[in-house]
Amino acid sequence: MDTIKRISVFGVGYVGLCTAVCFANKGFKVFSITTTPEKAEKINSGNPIIYEPGLEKMLKKALKKKTFYCTIDYKYAIANSDISFIAVGTPSLPDGSIDLSQIKSVSKNIGEALKEKKDYHLIVVKSTVVPNTSEKIVKKIIEEESNKKCGKDFGLCMNPEFLREGEAIYDTLNPDRIIIGGYDKKSINTLEKIYKKFYGKKLPPIIKTNLSTAELIKYASNAFLAMKISFINTIANICEKIPGADIVEVAKGIGLDKRIGAYFLNAGLGYGGSCFPKDVKALIAFSKELGYDPLLIESVEEVNKNQPYKAIELAKKLIGNLENKRIAILGLAFKPNTDDMREAVSIKIINKLLEEKAEIIAYDPMAIENARKIFGEKIKYASSAIDCIKNADCCIIVTEWDEFKKIKPEAFIKYMRNPAIVDGRRIYDPKKYSKKIKIEFIGYGK
Ligand code: UGA
Repeated sequence: MDTIKRISVFGVGYVGLCTAVCFANKGFKVFSITTTPEKAEKINSGNPIIYEPGLEKMLKKALKKKTFYCTIDYKYAIANSDISFIAVGTPSLPDGSIDLSQIKSVSKNIGEALKEKKDYHLIVVKSTVVPNTSEKIVKKIIEEESNKKCGKDFGLCMNPEFLREGEAIYDTLNPDRIIIGGYDKKSINTLEKIYKKFYGKKLPPIIKTNLSTAELIKYASNAFLAMKISFINTIANICEKIPGADIVEVAKGIGLDKRIGAYFLNAGLGYGGSCFPKDVKALIAFSKELGYDPLLIESVEEVNKNQPYKAIELAKKLIGNLENKRIAILGLAFKPNTDDMREAVSIKIINKLLEEKAEIIAYDPMAIENARKIFGEKIKYASSAIDCIKNADCCIIVTEWDEFKKIKPEAFIKYMRNPAIVDGRRIYDPKKYSKKIKIEFIGYGK
């Protein structure tokens, strides 16, 4: 097992492609597997399809070194590799529970391929899956399809991923910890050796555990982070009712306590993206299936459901009725440095504003193309932040892009019809801006 150098990675999303490309740049030979030939073709030509800082450069480097190849031929990939990572999507079903259809189909493919293989092969589930999935679904399907035995002919690990979009390469190369849940010792030791080789002297702490604990660690991590956000947003909403109280200072004040920690205490309009909303919902649904009502986590979700509408409330406070008012939306992506609009709070805010018959013009440095797919002609799109605020009656800061932070109050006054700002992400200094312009902040009591 010391010689493992050949890896297959199923899935070409953020987790799959970043994992594949990082391994390919660390001396491993990697097959990246997709079911879509057009995607494989694009990726093999150096286009990673998704936007992620640094990914394209690393992909091109790996292609040049011939250590990376994207293919739909999973049988060839498995026959010519020693370990397969499963990194396919696990979206939500309409009832909030997890959709495991991609996990099931990949497990079936792996089983079919293993049937024709003699050597030991390690399967590693990286996708976020609810506890028991690796053992009760992945293992079961692979055993049925391959007629082989887990623990003897093939190994099985659950190794959750903690990378953030926009920082995916950095996070893959510098994780805080590695969690290895394993079916047996051999599986765990095999994966540990791979990570030792991958990280060398920079090896982070490794937690070795069983499959279902590893699965739960991922959900608990995301639910905890979501809880921190809903918590700080709750305190922010209280701050607004206390003259002079400021959530940014409260967050600083509590964050210095090591037991609390300073991260993920930025109050705003709520969390979005492809992970927190779906994982919190899946954990609630899973827990209920087990007969336990996770009240705390349900509240985390409830707070987050309402938080985007704070933007509307504050806009009304500034300019009254929104009908026929021109509202400038700065920021559409679910967070800065990505074009991703999955579960972005901007969608909820814009839909509500449309309901109120406001006229909307929006700008985002990267996400306009994705916004067009959602809103089409229902809203207008600006070509720059300044273009967006021109003649507007109110501007709402929805995503905290750096370029918005640089806009001075004078620019808002110069270009807007009625200068009024809702700072939904606390990017402006209340002391400076409040003196010059009508402005409302999340978590700032007046
Ligand atoms: C999140 C986790 O941070 C990763 O560790 C995890 O691997 C990933 O989900 C996943 O499960 O795949 P990501 O969704 O890329 O990563 O984005 P985050 O940076 O965590 O932000 C999520 C949302 O929370 C954004 O809408 C952001 O605006 C919001 N947020 C974050 C706040 O409102 N306040 C904060 O203090 C931090």
